[in-house]
Amino acid sequence: MVLPSSAPARAAAPAAVFDWLDEAAELRARAGLTRTLRSRPADDPVLDLASNDYLGLVHHPEVTRAAADAALRWGGGSTGSRLVTGTTALHTELEVELADFCGVEAALVFSSGYAANLAALTALTDPDTLIVSDAYNHASLIDGCRLSRSDVHRAPHSDPQAVAAALAERSRPRALVVTDSLFSVDGNAAPLRELSAAARAHGAALLVDDAHGLGVLGPGGRGALAATGLAGAPDTVATVTLSKSLGSQGGAVLGPRRVIRHLTETARTFIFDTGLAPAAVGAALGALRLLRAEPQRAERAREVARTLAEQLTAAGLRASRPDAAVVSVRAPGPEQAVAWAADCRRAGLAVGCFRPPSVPDGHSRLRLTARGDLTAEQIRFAVRVITTTAP
Ligand SMILES: Cc1ncc(COP(=O)(O)O)c(C=O)c1O
Repeated sequence: MVLPSSAPARAAAPAAVFDWLDEAAELRARAGLTRTLRSRPADDPVLDLASNDYLGLVHHPEVTRAAADAALRWGGGSTGSRLVTGTTALHTELEVELADFCGVEAALVFSSGYAANLAALTALTDPDTLIVSDAYNHASLIDGCRLSRSDVHRAPHSDPQAVAAALAERSRPRALVVTDSLFSVDGNAAPLRELSAAARAHGAALLVDDAHGLGVLGPGGRGALAATGLAGAPDTVATVTLSKSLGSQGGAVLGPRRVIRHLTETARTFIFDTGLAPAAVGAALGALRLLRAEPQRAERAREVARTLAEQLTAAGLRASRPDAAVVSVRAPGPEQAVAWAADCRRAGLAVGCFRPPSVPDGHSRLRLTARGDLTAEQIRFAVRVITTTAP
């Protein structure tokens, strides 16, 4: 993104101090990169394929009831940092059940997946660590790398050999390989087994952001580590969000007990942040219990993704081959992507729209969430709308 070149005069009047922001907005507008907020009415009739509600649980009565019960019992907020007053018995229940479900020793709940990623990256590294980070990693992982004060090597996307080479050449004694499990723009899975082998061959730890894998990948939605035989591994840590498949809010770090202890005592986004609100903890617990009782929900989301991708490809569009519940469809450019998404909305379908800086130049696209609760009729409707509005 090009910023305005004109620096404000040293003696600018107070009213002119932020003038450069208007110039920056103008530049974004010219590049087709304006972003605006739209309030969503509670009774929006549009079919939603833009959210991250992969299992369609956000309105499930058991989830909303669990949230309401938690708020009534524990209050509107958690009242403080997790280490002071912000840990309720409900937080501990969620951590125990989440760790058990995902097959790891322990879990630690944060106020967001973003905070969980910052915590894992900053607490598990130091200036004596090399971080090898996939080029397509989520912004929260990138920000964690920036905050870590470690050496960061940006590895080519999904390239275990390049990761191994970077680890072999390092001068730092410690190393951490970090990757998304499922890349949310294209919906492709990371080569986790190969990355783990590369990390192990060079004495490095592996950190996997399973935001888009929990609830969708692995047996019964137990996530990417369970899917690849890495759950419970002593050298592997996962982060998750509670805001996608679990239809709630918040995040967690999952891994060996000593990692969780270290984060509890040192991670700044854990210590200097108010604990997750009880309603969100309750909703996540409700969704987790539902997923345990109805494991077919995970496979159904993957099946919907395959069907959507097949039908869009058959209609002549450039749809991705989904490894989980995300399908992306290429657009010619950022402006066409925005116009396409707007046309879909006018026709009754909400879709995500990715363009720079969220994706590299030339990679603008629509992003579809293959919700596991979609009916065959809703899938046909979505395909019809996307194909008839295609640029
Ligand atoms: C891959 C990935 N990691 C982390 C996050 C952050 O999670 P949260 O929204 O809970 O902060 C997201 C969500 O947007 C994500 O897609």
